[in-house]
Amino acid sequence: MSSSPFPSIRAASLVLGIETSCDETAASVVGRGADGAPVILSNVVLSQVEEHAAFGGVVPEIAARAHVEALDGIVGAALADAGIGFHALSGVAATVGPGLVGGLIVGAMTGKAIAAACDLPFIAVNHLEGHALTPRLTDAVAYPYLMLLVSGGHTQILLVRGLGAYERWGTTIDDALGEAFDKTAKLLGLGQPGGPVVERRAESGDPGRFALPRPMRGETRLDFSFSGLKTAVRLAAEAAAPLSEGDLDDLCASFQAAAAQSLADRVTRALRRFRSEFPDLVDPVLAVAGGVAANRSIRAELETACAKAGTRLVAPPLKLCTDNAAMIAHAGLERLEAGRLDALSAPVRPRWPLDERAEPLVGFGRRGAKA
Ligand code: KG4
Ligand code: ZN
Repeated sequence: MSSSPFPSIRAASLVLGIETSCDETAASVVGRGADGAPVILSNVVLSQVEEHAAFGGVVPEIAARAHVEALDGIVGAALADAGIGFHALSGVAATVGPGLVGGLIVGAMTGKAIAAACDLPFIAVNHLEGHALTPRLTDAVAYPYLMLLVSGGHTQILLVRGLGAYERWGTTIDDALGEAFDKTAKLLGLGQPGGPVVERRAESGDPGRFALPRPMRGETRLDFSFSGLKTAVRLAAEAAAPLSEGDLDDLCASFQAAAAQSLADRVTRALRRFRSEFPDLVDPVLAVAGGVAANRSIRAELETACAKAGTRLVAPPLKLCTDNAAMIAHAGLERLEAGRLDALSAPVRPRWPLDERAEPLVGFGRRGAKA
């Protein structure tokens, strides 16, 4: 019998998940309910935003040290919130990549140590797989489905065929979309993170005031590009300087509209391919993850694109769209149930594409830390 206070949780299905790949220290316990649906028993996330604020970005060394200081307390809190001890667990999952190597080592070593000390299976999880499987955690979405990952570190369209079976249909050839929001905010002298600030200012701005490009629109390949858009904002800002508050609002609105429409164009094309590859799906789904999915005008564009393509848009609650450990525990649970366990010698992998055949993307731009 499980010692869990959640009576409907199956005793053999509690997984502790640990996430330390970037600037969130997170731990969570996820189980499976008697009806087979996953259940989040706890989900603790400690953001390091303040530690990095003065530097205008995530500093890897500071991040790694902050993970070391916080992680045991966060794991303890996740177990306490779930009302269980280590020995009620059936497995331990940790993110081993992609991400910043120092943080990955902290999380992987902690997970392995708990697994070794409690004689539990260890599951080495790809952070992107955590995001990719989130619609199954929140909405019990059945395989296959299409996934749009839009955060500060990644911008990808993935076909999720099944556990461990992912095809990357498109990715950014330069900046991630969240990164473009952040850089745009920075060049306009607005605060960080840029996404929420730009969205707020855009509310009172005129999206038609500045003629900005819609990068990649109409391209056959499903990739994204956002750095040219950011440069176009810079040139428009320089031409309009000195900028009034109204100019800033208009620049934000114009940027956001261009970004949303570029994204919608790529997604529309991907949906067309999805519908033609899986014509018999009863309930075709596009799911989103990543912090940018919080943006209301981006969501509206995606809703429209999905409605036109006869596809259901699944947008999990924001705290499960952004980095968290529940998605890692849940991916670990699916892997544990499939018997896909890892040795304690499993290495961390700072670069680890979900679709290994899709890498590298030769001849195009830089890849972000998590690409
Ligand atoms: O998924 P996330 O929390 O962390 C990772 O990057 O992994 O995403 C953070 C990114 C940042 O670039 C932030 O500016 C962007 O998501 N973001 C937004 C909004 N809220 C957060 N972008 C546009 N509109 C928003 N409302
Ligand atoms: Zn992430």
